[in-house]
Amino acid sequence: MARILTGVSEQIPTLEQLQNLNPRQQPTYADADALTRVMDELRRRPPLVFAGECDELRTKLAAAAAGEAFMLQGGDCAETFETVTASNIRGTLGVLLLMAVVLTFAAQVPVVKVGRLAGQYAKPRSNDNETRAGVTLPAYRGDAVNGLEFTPESRVHNPQRLVETYNHSAATLNLIRAFVKGGFADLRSVHSWNRDFVRSSGVEERYEALADEIERALAFMVACGVDNDAFRTVDFYSSHEALLLAYEHALTRIDQRTDTPYNVSAHMVWIGERTRQLDGPHIAYARQLRNPIGIKLGPNTTGAEAVALAEAVDPDREPGRLTFITRMGASRVREALPPIIEAVEATGRKVVWVCDPMHGNTFETANGYKTRAFSQVVEEMNGFFDVHEALGTWPGGVHMELTGDDVTECVGGVEELAEADLANRYETACDPRLNRSQSLELAFQIAQRLTDGRIRRTNPVQEFRHEDF
Ligand code: PEP
Ligand code: CO
Repeated sequence: MARILTGVSEQIPTLEQLQNLNPRQQPTYADADALTRVMDELRRRPPLVFAGECDELRTKLAAAAAGEAFMLQGGDCAETFETVTASNIRGTLGVLLLMAVVLTFAAQVPVVKVGRLAGQYAKPRSNDNETRAGVTLPAYRGDAVNGLEFTPESRVHNPQRLVETYNHSAATLNLIRAFVKGGFADLRSVHSWNRDFVRSSGVEERYEALADEIERALAFMVACGVDNDAFRTVDFYSSHEALLLAYEHALTRIDQRTDTPYNVSAHMVWIGERTRQLDGPHIAYARQLRNPIGIKLGPNTTGAEAVALAEAVDPDREPGRLTFITRMGASRVREALPPIIEAVEATGRKVVWVCDPMHGNTFETANGYKTRAFSQVVEEMNGFFDVHEALGTWPGGVHMELTGDDVTECVGGVEELAEADLANRYETACDPRLNRSQSLELAFQIAQRLTDGRIRRTNPVQEFRHEDF
């Protein structure tokens, strides 16, 4: 039974208390009363997710922490109101489902599917301002705060945008729910898209064998008469960065059954690298929620810091509650990640270790595009798998910025996109995303690592024997 969430929580700090904790990356509104009116309105709106769904996701993530599941989290860096269309939502969902099939087959464990969508509208920025041709304006902070257009009117921080954020999130989630239960996620059709990709993208040689194997496995199941819901529908969850304290606070409710607070704007929320200060308001807020929580960790994180964050957010060591999303950069992952994992593991707690191979690998091209090289993304992902393999810990998942469209935002990949190609279709409102074929190619590469790891785990003495004789 769906559990309804009501009321403003007295168990979480008030917004004022949070605002006294030196918040970073928050909008500055000229009209405080307008924000209060918006907050009142949001507090009356129905929840976008149910407590029971958040609990279900937590249970699935507990399996990922225990080495019995793998998490796939992905979507736009920044959703925009304008791009909330059926075709965009279907595109992002479709590419995630495709990747999930390949990963499930390779890992032979459930893949927990989580979108960076239906709420990913607020962005932390390195600079408060942006200057173009001698004109300086406030930086774009996501559609939840201001507009992308480079005009003074558009860049004003406007609290009314929080209501629009809620509305667009609701529309997105509604369509996703219809898609994943309404036949779009049918395993057989998802796999046939996969086949098309393998045939048409020039990666046939490398990936055909895997695609063939998946096909045979599906045919086998059909022949055996397996034709249940697991074939036709999937569980899919929403997540976003909990950046704007006012918005997240207004969408926090008490679950009447357990009398505990949930963020009802997403199944899972994460705290970004720039706002995860131990004594800051974002951690003070997140620690009170029952939702699964993610925390981004960059390359300067110390083991002690990671342990302190884990203690703060997950004092009861609840399985599935905490996911560390590490984003080290391809050149630093091998040296920066092990001390963090070792320190956390030494406490005996289990978290989900997820690799974000995007945010440590961004650079600007000579012609002014923010981009990422596909090879660097793969390199960080491989470093992540190598580190976990060496430490005997489970690489619990990946976190990606991607889209189902054929954009040209990241260089490299099977289509060998060059810097000169970026101008063709560069559409992101914030960070560069992998396009559809780059996303799938990455999924095949991750699949290879998961398959290798599985063979090693199930057959640990094989290599030794081979040398012995
Ligand atoms: C993001 O995920 O878009 C982001 C800003 O990441 P990070 O907090 O890791 O920089
Ligand atoms: Co980003």
